[in-house]
Amino acid sequence: MYILGIESSCDETSAAVVEMSDDCRRICSNIIASQIETHRLYGGVVPEIASRAHVEAVSRITYEALQEAGIGISDLGAVAVTTHPGLIGALLVGVNFAKSMAYSRGIPLVSVNHIHAHVAAAYLSAPELRPPFLALVVSGGHTQLYTVEDELTWHCVGGTRDDAAGEAFDKIGRVIGMPYPGGAALDKLAYEGDKTAFALPSPAITGDNLDFSFSGLKTAALNLINSARQRGEEIDRADLAASYTDTIVRGLVKKTDDALKKTGARTLVMAGGVAANSHLRAALTALCERRGVKFVVPPMALCGDNGAMVAAAGYFRYCAGLTEGCDLNASAADEM
Ligand code: KG4
Ligand code: ZN
Repeated sequence: MYILGIESSCDETSAAVVEMSDDCRRICSNIIASQIETHRLYGGVVPEIASRAHVEAVSRITYEALQEAGIGISDLGAVAVTTHPGLIGALLVGVNFAKSMAYSRGIPLVSVNHIHAHVAAAYLSAPELRPPFLALVVSGGHTQLYTVEDELTWHCVGGTRDDAAGEAFDKIGRVIGMPYPGGAALDKLAYEGDKTAFALPSPAITGDNLDFSFSGLKTAALNLINSARQRGEEIDRADLAASYTDTIVRGLVKKTDDALKKTGARTLVMAGGVAANSHLRAALTALCERRGVKFVVPPMALCGDNGAMVAAAGYFRYCAGLTEGCDLNASAADEM
């Protein structure tokens, strides 16, 4: 069946058509209208501007997605939309658009959790992937570890107690003058620096837990930058990028390794915007090789926010009969 996926939780409006069945997982189109250039002027996402930009883009890109897929609205078996978590005003644009489309054409409507959608990107890139597995979701708003029992059954086994990894990258990127969002820019810059230049506190919380904390690391890096500035110096940005990235990567790898041991998982999936980080991809590839665990990570193009992942996640909910009515709402929180 063909499913339309609509994503508008943050600063990317996306619409995609995927074809899904028991043995088929095919992306027919995946159109993304990014607002990054607009928000870059402000150094971060401005929620009200994001909502307005979604309103301007959502209809156009949905029709583009259908056209590129070579199908009409009547060929759709379901419309899936991200309903939570995210920026409430931004989410409401996608939800109301999806609701009106589903209602007016009598198409089943499916609600999708954005975090689950990130992981569902892995079902598209690795069609043979089946639960159970351990999932590390690293994005601008989340850094969590989940055991995924089946496509709809998740248990959070650990996660950040404060900021997310992506937020930590973006914050330091902004302070050292990298364009928003800083994650991708720091990733590249880190290759030019010495990762042993600065000793920074690990985001892996010590003790018998699978939790992270990025606030202490962020503050430590900010203190280094500010102390240098007070001395009239500028910190070596490449050295900081290398040390900071290495500290984050080692912290994520440590707790993921602990989670693999604790859960006995034989497959690890990494997903979310920060899953595009090349250092993290390499480190987790090495970890999984050492542990004899299968490692699945979507290609870079499917790590950031996109409609295809929403459609893929929506397929499993549709199959379980979890469809929605016109009273469907959005929620900023992780749970509806
Ligand atoms: O999943 P995503 O597109 O949006 C959320 O759901 O939050 O993630 C965006 C985050 C941003 O913080 C961005 O800086 C980060 O993903 N990111 C990266 C890289 N590419 C994107 N972080 C580190 N290295 C990258 N290569
Ligand atoms: Zn996301």
